[in-house]
Amino acid sequence: MEILWGDETLFRNEEVFDPEFLPPEVLHRDMQIADLAACLRPALRGVAPGHVLCVGPPSTGKTTVVRYVLSKLEEHDVATAYLRCPVLRTTYNVFARIYEVVCRKIPPQKGVPLFRLLEEIGQSCDVPVVALDDINFLADNVLNEVLLTLVKNVEFKVGVVAIAMSKDFVARLEPYLGSIFHFHEIMFPLYSKEEIRSILRWRVEHGFYPDVMTEEAFERVVELVARNGDLRYGLYLLRKAGVMAERRASRRIEVEDVERAREGEEVVALAKSISALNSDEREVLKIIYALDEENVTTGDVYAILKAEVGMSYSRFYEIMDTSFA
Ligand SMILES: Nc1ncnc2c1ncn2[C@@H]1O[C@H](COP(=O)(O)OP(=O)(O)OP(=O)(O)O)[C@@H](O)[C@H]1O
Ligand SMILES: [Mg+2]
Repeated sequence: MEILWGDETLFRNEEVFDPEFLPPEVLHRDMQIADLAACLRPALRGVAPGHVLCVGPPSTGKTTVVRYVLSKLEEHDVATAYLRCPVLRTTYNVFARIYEVVCRKIPPQKGVPLFRLLEEIGQSCDVPVVALDDINFLADNVLNEVLLTLVKNVEFKVGVVAIAMSKDFVARLEPYLGSIFHFHEIMFPLYSKEEIRSILRWRVEHGFYPDVMTEEAFERVVELVARNGDLRYGLYLLRKAGVMAERRASRRIEVEDVERAREGEEVVALAKSISALNSDEREVLKIIYALDEENVTTGDVYAILKAEVGMSYSRFYEIMDTSFA
């Protein structure tokens, strides 16, 4: 059997297949980027920008666009804090995280009152931009307290960028807050097949060596992703197909590698009972059950698992593929 040795790999840069990877170019989202940048621009002059809600189905580039625009603001010395809400359980956690990012210091222990954190955040910056990703995951009381504190505190003015898959959380705002927390809405529609193709094409060009992936194999991935619309699945399939091709010592990624990537190695695992689940799989199951929410996506579950148990995305998808399909 032929084996690819040493540096004989098909991957030029495996990192581009990581769903957390922030691409240097965000394709097909010029309108959303321009809209968000225009809303937040006043922060450059130290003026409070309006609040924004980025809303749309899973895998439509909300997180990517917000992180991209925030990184541009940082380049212009605007303080920004990007927060993943599913892992933040209390109001204190939220502000401790903002403190950590903005003040670049380890946040004090819980005993310190919230207003002290706010004071120090205010001393570090005038108008921070705070992004609350997957804001719908905040519990009712935390959601209301966080937004109220952000909007009404006297230590700093803030531009809030909320990110959510739907506007359902707005109904959970207390009436008082609902009337003072106004936001501009930016819609993220699903990508067309053409758009999916060009986003994935960029990853193939930067992730694999030239001409490694056959056109047929690539089109097969595009086809599968266009069916369920989940770009993350596309990234997973591309990487796994690469691994499969390497495993059979091939210098090209063929359709059969995509099919193997899709099937996973142990179809038998489908029949696993809960008692046979390993600890990673149990973590996934526990979180799915704990998230007593509608509209929970695999992306949401993964965000929690990555933060809480440091699970890699390929491991996560493997579990979803084999245990919960
Ligand atoms: N326009 C784009 N250009 C390049 N890559 C993109 C684009 N949109 C999404 N991606 C990639 O697709 C994956 C999913 O995108 P992202 O996480 O931004 O979606 P999302 O809308 O935040 O999804 P969710 O609601 O599930 O959190 C990421 O790995 C991201 O890098
Ligand atoms: Mg997201």
